[in-house]
Amino acid sequence: MPPQLKTLIPLFAIFIVLFLVGRHLVVPESFGEAGHYRFNSIVENAEKPLQYADKDACNECHEDYVMEMESDMHAGLSCETCHGPGFAHYEEPDSSRLLVPDQREFCGLCHQRNFNREKKLAQIDLKEHYPEKKCIECHNPHLPWDITE
Ligand code: HEC
Ligand code: HEC
Ligand code: HEC
Ligand code: HEC
Repeated sequence: MPPQLKTLIPLFAIFIVLFLVGRHLVVPESFGEAGHYRFNSIVENAEKPLQYADKDACNECHEDYVMEMESDMHAGLSCETCHGPGFAHYEEPDSSRLLVPDQREFCGLCHQRNFNREKKLAQIDLKEHYPEKKCIECHNPHLPWDITE
């Protein structure tokens, strides 16, 4: 055996041990149990309280609004896109109120003209499109083409 290996081999052994100890300290407990990820993250996320209920849940009490919305251009939107997470309201409607976003800026989040936006999404300029009124004074938010001027 060449003499320099006598020092290199123990040195390598020390490096390998340090690497294994370091890896053991930084890799989370359940990593690799079911794949290349931390398995406990699934359990932790499943334990979080539900926030959203979805349209079918709203339909149990607000059938009229759901039907109205299906018949017009906002049919693709979820109720909770505008009214916020509704699971608590779904369970206890009287004690958990939802948002009622009636500000122009709210509609502008999707409809303000922006050349980076997909062309098929109808766009207006908030500064020019009847700036003195709220959108919902003219457009029913559930039936946007049901216009009252
Ligand atoms: C584009 C946004 C938007 C979507 C999507 C939407 N809403 Fe609304 N909703 C509003 C706004 C804005 C008002 C307030 C209207 C007003 O005051 O004239 C409102 C009012 C309401 C109200 C009456 C609130 C009050 O004033 O007492 C109910 C109930 C309601 N929405 C339920 C629903 C349900 C159920 C859905 C899904 C089928 C839905 N909404 C989808 C924007 C939306
Ligand atoms: C179990 C019946 C029930 C379900 C399910 C339900 N709501 Fe309601 N909702 C009500 C009642 C009752 C009111 C009126 C409360 C009042 O005026 O005292 C209300 C009021 C509202 C309002 C007016 C604002 C407020 O909080 O008072 C909105 C908006 C609304 N609901 C949207 C929704 C959406 C969106 C869903 C689905 C996630 C939904 N609701 C599911 C019963 C229900
Ligand atoms: C989360 C995004 C979103 C929000 C918020 C939103 N809309 Fe829409 N809106 C849409 C989509 C998607 C369509 C269907 C595609 C399109 O623009 O034609 C639509 C369609 C419309 C149309 C019909 C346009 C057409 O092409 O014929 C009107 C009018 C309208 N919305 C008004 C409103 C008003 C008023 C508000 C606020 C109460 C509002 N929208 C809030 C996404 C949104
Ligand atoms: C004074 C009533 C009035 C108000 C307020 C109003 N609109 Fe309109 N909106 C109309 C009318 C009428 C049309 C159809 C003719 C036009 O484009 O002017 C229209 C058209 C639209 C369209 C379709 C544009 C297209 O190119 O197809 C969208 C989207 C829209 N409005 C969104 C909004 C939003 C968002 C607000 C609030 C920021 C709003 N409107 C406020 C009356 C109104």
